[in-house]
Amino acid sequence: MCGIVGYTGFKSAAPILTDGLRKLEYRGYDSYGIVIPERTGFFIHKACGRISGYIPSPEVSSGTCGIGHTRWATHGDPSDENAHPHTDCTNSIAIVHNGIIENYSELKRGLEKRGHVFRSETDSEIIAHMLEEAYNGSLFSAMKQVIPYLTGSFAILAVHAGDGEIVAARFKSPLALGIGDGELFAGSDITPMIGFTNRFIFLDDGDIAVITPETYVIYADGIKVSRDIQQLDLSPDQVRKGGFPHFMLKEIYEGPDVFADAIRSLTSETLPEPIKDAGSFTVVGCGSSYHAGLIFKYLMEEAVAVPVRVEIGSEFKYARTPLSEVIIGISQSGETADTLAALEKGRCHNHSTVAITNVLNSSITRMAENTCFMHAGPEISVAATKSFIAQTGILMQIINIRSNERYDEVLGRISHLMQIVSLEPLTEAVNLCKDSLHIFFVGRGVMYPVMMEGALKMKEISYIHAEAYAAGELKHGPFALLGPETPVIAVCLPGRTYHVMISNIKEMKARKTPVIAIGEENDTELSDIVDIMIPVPGAHLWQHVLQVTVLLQLFAYHTAAALGRDIDKPRNLAKSVTVE
Ligand code: M6R
Repeated sequence: MCGIVGYTGFKSAAPILTDGLRKLEYRGYDSYGIVIPERTGFFIHKACGRISGYIPSPEVSSGTCGIGHTRWATHGDPSDENAHPHTDCTNSIAIVHNGIIENYSELKRGLEKRGHVFRSETDSEIIAHMLEEAYNGSLFSAMKQVIPYLTGSFAILAVHAGDGEIVAARFKSPLALGIGDGELFAGSDITPMIGFTNRFIFLDDGDIAVITPETYVIYADGIKVSRDIQQLDLSPDQVRKGGFPHFMLKEIYEGPDVFADAIRSLTSETLPEPIKDAGSFTVVGCGSSYHAGLIFKYLMEEAVAVPVRVEIGSEFKYARTPLSEVIIGISQSGETADTLAALEKGRCHNHSTVAITNVLNSSITRMAENTCFMHAGPEISVAATKSFIAQTGILMQIINIRSNERYDEVLGRISHLMQIVSLEPLTEAVNLCKDSLHIFFVGRGVMYPVMMEGALKMKEISYIHAEAYAAGELKHGPFALLGPETPVIAVCLPGRTYHVMISNIKEMKARKTPVIAIGEENDTELSDIVDIMIPVPGAHLWQHVLQVTVLLQLFAYHTAAALGRDIDKPRNLAKSVTVE
């Protein structure tokens, strides 16, 4: 769950590394650090907290090679000592690591017995000490000897004092190289390299690469191998805020275009073969991706009558019941450990596997037999917004292709309808809710997972406890918590669930609960009984799903902004959850 970056070339490395780490902070931001080899020893700067304010002064180090790290703490508190890079006892080898070394305690005990002194509580530090023991003039040979002893997952970058060479190793944690002119880059993903080069190599599990300013050599099992260079034309603008105060707001506003691109990307011809006629599906995802799976379940079962089972990634490993024909893993990042493990389990049981992801060459694309790309562009804010929209678009398009009653027209109007949301009542709703300790989000049918997603967004970025409930479940316990201090946000739109939602809202009002309703414009029956009405234009149920989603994203955003929260980087979170 950490981000790593490396540079070797002809420019001063420190600013390139620090700028790269800022772009990788979505992977964790408990501490940061960079190391630049000097003629003897290293220049090292590392500290607890975010890199935001750190600007290396030119006299610090003019070295043209270095590696850096931004951390999401797993082993040991966020602290200066636990921040990467870590060095060996002689201070001549430095490493940064993303992943988890599962057998580190045992390896550490052995190293301590042999006289190594540790300065951090991390699992990662053992790598520097093991490299020290194995080193006899070649960092690559040392790495080659050390790797077989490590179990778990890792992307490692290592440097030796006095050298302009970086040695990189990958196993189950992503690692890419960027090939420039007289300069080479390495990183957990390509975002730190965008603007410097458009030529990338995505290393495979087991690869060790030796990188110098002019060349790179990749080894697998000790033998030189060649890996394809991919040309990806991404512009630096795609990772800039473009005038918005936060990436989250920018990404919400990108939602309509992203939805249109997602549905365009999938046709009857490009739909992965196993999905075309499967008689049942299992969908696995975590967080927002799980919620997208639940929306798929409601809509697919209704439109095509094909059963869909949806599992949280981290719980799937405990499932004993037989799996369905096709397993769909949904993951924006393509690196979520639990979703990857679920697909692996599916493969072991000989099921067809399909990934829905936003990241080319991510681990999930290697794990699954087929992939549907979301084409949402880089999502920087930790909160999933446009990626959730894209996932929902892809999943709706799958139903559309599988259904006899085509939904092309319904889908075609969604992008436009997503843009017509009224901000004024939203501001009133924010004022009503921002000082609450708890908020309930309720709905029925497909609106229940939509509300689950709304509640997740709210708690994640505003830190208000927000809980989603199927409206029918309220009377089975949670009603005890309702009252004047606890607002409820309820979706009540025309259709099968309308009348029963009206009754539920009246029951809440009888307990003096403030109710904010999302309802169809001009619905006076509803607006007369609620405290605040957020109107949406009359539309098809699928269109309402997206309209309500966007409203709830904006509701969470503006509540968090009113509370002055750190919206793009909420406390304790990371965008990519690569540990179980
Ligand atoms: O990259 P993934 O889609 O696999 O990520 C899954 C969750 O970690 C993610 O959706 C998370 O819940 C979001 N931060 C919520 O906004």
